Amino acid sequence: MIIREMEMDDIERVAEIEAQNFAKPWTAVGLFTYFMREDAKFFVAVEDEEVVGYCGVLISIDEGDITNVAVEKSRQGKGIGTELVQAMIHNMEEAGVTTLHLEVRASNENARKLYERAGFLQDHIRKEYYSEPTEDGIAMSRRHSH
Ligand SMILES: CC(C)(COP(=O)(O)OP(=O)(O)OC[C@H]1O[C@@H](n2cnc3c(N)ncnc32)[C@H](O)[C@@H]1OP(=O)(O)O)[C@@H](O)C(=O)NCCC(=O)NCCS
Repeated sequence: MIIREMEMDDIERVAEIEAQNFAKPWTAVGLFTYFMREDAKFFVAVEDEEVVGYCGVLISIDEGDITNVAVEKSRQGKGIGTELVQAMIHNMEEAGVTTLHLEVRASNENARKLYERAGFLQDHIRKEYYSEPTEDGIAMSRRHSH
């Protein structure tokens, strides 16, 4: 498996992975809008020439906000998400981003475990941050120490 930056041709496939995983998925058009932003960076995981997962981050000087992480349903639980997040952390550190932030659904144990193992700590709870279904968000962050 390789991790590389997302390209325009990956967007349709990434939109499929979004639709498999989220009640309110980003559409291809929405993804494209972010893709064009100077402050956004997306990575994809590729296995046998097929995109099987992706993650995105919005950068503001030395801080990054992780927007999405998702892996194709049939390939979850095999370490792809972990590799994507690790690759993103590494890339952000190289770019001088010292703090990464994210929000995760309180019930999303797999994702929370993954982020904790990657060095993210819980900051605070955002009451009813999510809709459909309504749920608290857990804000987490990871500080890079030099
Ligand atoms: C969360 C997500 C990105 C993780 O990617 P992944 O490739 O499945 O994750 P990994 O295999 O690297 O690790 C996930 C952890 O959850 C555990 N897990 C157990 N059952 C699992 C399952 N059915 N699916 C995924 N993870 C599972 C894994 O074992 C692993 O923990 P461990 O290393 O302690 O065993 C992926 O499951 C996903 O796309 N979920 C739906 C979208 C989502 O919730 N995104 C996060 C939004 S903040």
